[in-house]
Amino acid sequence: MQIFNQKEALIQFLKQEKTENKTLGLVPTMGALHKGHLSLVEKALINNDVVVVSIFVNPTQFDNKTDLEKYPKTFDRDLETLKLLNENIIIFAPSAEDIYDNNVTSETFDFDGLEHQMEGKYRSGHFDGVGTIVRKLFTIVQPDNAYFGEKDFQQLQIIRKMAAKNQLPVNIVGCPISREENGLAMSSRNERLPQDIRKEASFIYKTLLQAKDKFGTESAIDTVNWIEKQFSKHSDFSLEYAEIADEKTLKPVKTKKENKRYRLFVAVYANDIRLIDNVALN
Ligand code: PAJ
Repeated sequence: MQIFNQKEALIQFLKQEKTENKTLGLVPTMGALHKGHLSLVEKALINNDVVVVSIFVNPTQFDNKTDLEKYPKTFDRDLETLKLLNENIIIFAPSAEDIYDNNVTSETFDFDGLEHQMEGKYRSGHFDGVGTIVRKLFTIVQPDNAYFGEKDFQQLQIIRKMAAKNQLPVNIVGCPISREENGLAMSSRNERLPQDIRKEASFIYKTLLQAKDKFGTESAIDTVNWIEKQFSKHSDFSLEYAEIADEKTLKPVKTKKENKRYRLFVAVYANDIRLIDNVALN
């Protein structure tokens, strides 16, 4: 397994690979890998000759310093896990100084308003940070295909928007959410949940599924009100937002239309740990 810590070395290496006309897949991650991440890597391995997995905890996308400091770092375990999956995976794990050229700041992006919805309202500057790092990764790796999870659906749509607006020659592949046995969406943050709360967190996905049923017959506002009520009754979880949004614009739905695709999104606090999840509604 090849590990690159410097972008120049990776660029030189990939130049050679490219001359052989191979397809290149990129899976950007912040490490602390779990089965959700691995499902993206597995998909990339099926559809590409060469797969690069980046592992970089990107400081510019964290609006909360403690969250950044507490972000789990399990680099050696991550390498072992990836090696077991496939020995030919290429790892890119740069330092902040290297990938940011000693200037660790975000660019400002216009994602046609996608960045102002949901997570954008609660995590100031988050999507500028994501856009900045993903753009850098695309420039360095120049992948044919790049893999992102629907777990972070807003992020996925924003990356699609960035690729379309800038006519980037990369195919953005969305991948379904991997869940723990009890339905909790897999996340590096789950490791920080106390065992009893992690178990209890099946409540989040169960509520999403029940709400999905409700949305079949009820309005968006009534469904959201119902979700808020369920969470207000549960002492372990506090709901930051529940929103039913159009998949394309990510704007909240007022009246349902036949030809639109909708999704239900929630952000939930369990103690000081912030969890997000979503389900497709139609
Ligand atoms: P990270 O949270 O490490 O996630 C890396 C990728 O794995 C993202 O595309 C995310 O949506 C996907 N993922 C996480 N949990 C998943 C799950 N349970 N099922 C399916 N996919 C899942 O997202 C980021 O890192 C960063 O913002 C990044 C894109 C790397 C930019 O820094």
